[in-house]
Amino acid sequence: MCGIVGVLGHHEAAPTLVEGLKRLEYRGYDSAGIATVNNGTLARRRALGKLANLSDLLVHEPLTGKSGIGHTRWATHGAPSVNNAHPHKAGCVAVVHNGIIENFKELRATLAAEGFECTTDTDTETVALLTERHMQNGLSPQDAAYKTISALEGAFALAFLFDGYDDLMIAARKGSPLAIGHGEGEMYVGSDAMALAPFTDQITYLEEGDFAVLSRSSLDVRNLHGEAVSREMRKIKLDIARIDKDGHKHFMAKEIAEQPTAINRALAAYLDQNNQITLPEELDFTKVERLTLVACGTGYYACLAAKYWFEQIARMPVEVDVASEFRYREPPISAGTLAVFVSQSGETADTLAALRYCAGKAQQIAGLVNVPESSIARESDVVLPIHAGPEISVASTKAFTCQLVILLLMALKAAAQRGQPLPADLPEDLRSLPGLLHQVIAGEEQVTAVSRELAKAQDIIFLGRGHLYPLALEGALKLKELSYIHAEGYASGELKHGPIALIDETVPVVVIAPSDALFDKTVSNMQEVMARGGKVILVTDAKGAELASEGVAETLVLPHVNSVLTPILYAVPAQQIAYFTAIAKGTDVDQPRNLAKSVTVE
Ligand code: F6R
Repeated sequence: MCGIVGVLGHHEAAPTLVEGLKRLEYRGYDSAGIATVNNGTLARRRALGKLANLSDLLVHEPLTGKSGIGHTRWATHGAPSVNNAHPHKAGCVAVVHNGIIENFKELRATLAAEGFECTTDTDTETVALLTERHMQNGLSPQDAAYKTISALEGAFALAFLFDGYDDLMIAARKGSPLAIGHGEGEMYVGSDAMALAPFTDQITYLEEGDFAVLSRSSLDVRNLHGEAVSREMRKIKLDIARIDKDGHKHFMAKEIAEQPTAINRALAAYLDQNNQITLPEELDFTKVERLTLVACGTGYYACLAAKYWFEQIARMPVEVDVASEFRYREPPISAGTLAVFVSQSGETADTLAALRYCAGKAQQIAGLVNVPESSIARESDVVLPIHAGPEISVASTKAFTCQLVILLLMALKAAAQRGQPLPADLPEDLRSLPGLLHQVIAGEEQVTAVSRELAKAQDIIFLGRGHLYPLALEGALKLKELSYIHAEGYASGELKHGPIALIDETVPVVVIAPSDALFDKTVSNMQEVMARGGKVILVTDAKGAELASEGVAETLVLPHVNSVLTPILYAVPAQQIAYFTAIAKGTDVDQPRNLAKSVTVE
């Protein structure tokens, strides 16, 4: 992961770098650092922890200079520490890096044999050392950096700065995204265009294998084969406003509350006034023998729920997989069919690799993304923006429900195209969702009390059946990432095949069970839990509460909704449980430990 930023400007670089890094902190917050060149002198400042610590350091130890590079880290090689923080420096070279240098051990050994010793635990330091070695052997910074990059294996986005060179920066990408921003006689580098939004909207995206030499007035790009190439400069539509919490205590609370509006936006984009689905015409499900859905984490759970919709409503076979497995599984796929990649950030390395695998098999590629300028969007044949709006909190909330809405619309469109009857009252009932979500969000006090109890547990189980099973998985994921409590989601019917051994009075079980066709089955599984002393929190509707609340520790009652739509509505209590349990435990809700919002390493 990690975020990188760079500037060759006319003003002091440090504030620009910090502003850019603020917009990249979603990529990691283990440490942060900047380096500048001031009248030829290269210097750096680095701090452990969040960017705020670097900002504090810069107050006491300012760094001057109008050229600079900056980094916010999500540790891969080497624990979070000041010494392992970027920029890494060797002699007259400073480097910031996003990605993993896979052959760093071999490089390190070769360098050590020549007297260039590493002083950190990182893979990145070898890049600085190798470049410094080439320069000591007489190469120019450009040639030294180029020779270094040719020796690297793995994935990287890199920016280099050099002692003695006020008007030079080198940037290179392979596997990790990198954007170049063009200002008025100024030049910028960023992991994404959003990082550069306060400074410029003129963006050139580097392509795979590109090597770029920047000055304030020029950008020279060489491609994978070393040929000079020109890369298109585009005017990007970006919201430069700093995103704030809008009176909420956390971004997550704000993003949970925004779901009715976000879903309205998504519906406005893909459902017209007459309730006709207006997805892009290129999406033709009549020819699709087997649909492939691929994503990671929460996006994967959205795909799992969608599998039920596509199979039950459109009667079409669906393969769903997590991208990290899919990409190496080499699944046989017949040409000319459709693969859908779901990603909030649009930058997830495994999902992008899986996309490229399918593109290589002549699949039509559809990307469901929240960031329209992302790598996945740029490499998709059909882009479906999910319209959730910026999601800042690391744990995904509104992106998940928007993904679900659009996947459902896709399933409905597939059904219509394949001559299958649509479920009663759909898609009309989708219009009721924002109002119902409002009601659930407003009823958060019932979840607060439950969460205070859950915060005392060490293990929590979530159960769901049918298209609520993916929601049990999502509820458990959300809870563990925010509260650090161990949680597992199971298909209700699976409980007796092993996990029931875990049940005793100390293990709360959250049962997600609206009063639908499978309700009785889930209630039987719930009884099995209660018979073994398990403490059940039942999440259901009024009818379900009336039928099955007896003996249950707590019942969370949701409004009735068309049963096809329950995964979307019931996502909210799953999010609220995680949120309020984290509050009760006092953990860092928006930036939980060890995580990052955009996972650009595999
Ligand atoms: C969990 C969460 C992650 C992401 C996953 C994929 O709350 O947010 O599991 O869903 O890292 O990220 P995207 O959707 O950006 O590809």
